[in-house]
Amino acid sequence: MSTAGKVIKCKAAVLWEPKKPFSIEEVEVAPPKAHEVRIKILATGICRSDDHVITGALVRPFPIILGHEAAGVVESVGEGVTSVKPGDKVIPLFVPQCGECSACLSTKGNLCSKNDIGSASGLMPDGTTRFTCKGKAIHHFIGTSTFTEYTVVHETAVAKIAAAAPLEKVCLIGCGFSTGYGAAVQTAKVEPGSTCAVFGLGGVGLSVVMGCKAAGASRIIAIDINKDKFAKAKELGATDCVNPKDFTKPIHEVLMEMTGLGVDYSFEVIGHTETMAAALASCHFNYGVSVIVGVPPAAEKISFDPMLLFSGRTWKGSVFGGWKSKDAVPKLVADYMEKKFVLEPLITHTLPFIKINEGFDLLRKGKSIRSVLVF
Ligand SMILES: NC(=O)c1ccc[n+]([C@@H]2O[C@H](COP(=O)([O-])OP(=O)(O)OC[C@H]3O[C@@H](n4cnc5c(N)ncnc54)[C@H](O)[C@@H]3O)[C@@H](O)[C@H]2O)c1
Ligand SMILES: [Zn+2]
Ligand SMILES: [Zn+2]
Repeated sequence: MSTAGKVIKCKAAVLWEPKKPFSIEEVEVAPPKAHEVRIKILATGICRSDDHVITGALVRPFPIILGHEAAGVVESVGEGVTSVKPGDKVIPLFVPQCGECSACLSTKGNLCSKNDIGSASGLMPDGTTRFTCKGKAIHHFIGTSTFTEYTVVHETAVAKIAAAAPLEKVCLIGCGFSTGYGAAVQTAKVEPGSTCAVFGLGGVGLSVVMGCKAAGASRIIAIDINKDKFAKAKELGATDCVNPKDFTKPIHEVLMEMTGLGVDYSFEVIGHTETMAAALASCHFNYGVSVIVGVPPAAEKISFDPMLLFSGRTWKGSVFGGWKSKDAVPKLVADYMEKKFVLEPLITHTLPFIKINEGFDLLRKGKSIRSVLVF
């Protein structure tokens, strides 16, 4: 019997308040309104950005259903939806693509103004939520909310992907892989022969390493305080691995000594203000480009010597790898299926959805790259 038009009762991981474990609860998921899509989630990765909400580094309204890196199948669609239909395999998009705002219309932009990253409302674009638990409205997370068996997203925040795509792998295209790979090939536009430095070797940082390698970088310096990350970084293209803990001098000085004049491209893929400043100081004084990928911690500021930029360096940020999401995601999935890049090395653990708290422990202890939760 079709569930279209009806409330669906299902399991979801609800975060009732900050700094607490997830509770697996029965939630009610309302049917999609006009221009909305209800998705049965089949696989979802755990990204550090989800954990930032738990710690408070990323401020969001509670209670909330987190998760933003996923893949699933369309269960039903609201009135006026034309780009997907029930049964389609899809990836939800935490950066939507409305096609009408200034960022969508510009060839240079990708951060659609309909996103809920900066505004942090935790609501659908019409200002309401589709989730209820124990009589309480539960917030959405950046227009996606994938730690649930069913979710509702706006039509501008979902991309149809190939019917043969393996969802427990391509879910990483919903965030970690695309963000890191795109930061290198799309935002920085790394050129053949260049020298790159990647600060932070989680799922996103290792994807930056892959992007630098694909772009033809001749030297890729991988930096992490957890030396257990080095073997995989080398496997994916890093030429040197550096642990800041092995040195007493600041890491940017270490990189200057290693490279002579600094790297061509540096990437901060951790989310700390000190490493953002260190990454900037590590690139060439004149034509170096430094890209902030890690989420800036709430309420923190950076003070820096403007001479670093006056001399010519470029400091930029990259959200979702600079990709125009709805256009790029189906192509990235097709590229994965044509073996133009790999996702397998990033997936260290696959766990049943109800083991979500275990998955977050693995991340916090530095034992996982990506854990994928399957339903
Ligand atoms: N810009 C975007 O669109 C976007 C998308 C996804 C994730 N992010 C952010 O990117 C960052 C990385 O995400 P992830 O899932 O790969 O995280 P992760 O926690 O898996 O990886 C971070 C890595 O940084 C290392 N690290 C921590 N402190 C360090 C230090 N002082 N020096 C060197 N290395 C250090 C850790 O050991 C870890 O290996 C997070 O801040 C996340 O929120 C941004
Ligand atoms: Zn993410
Ligand atoms: Zn837009």
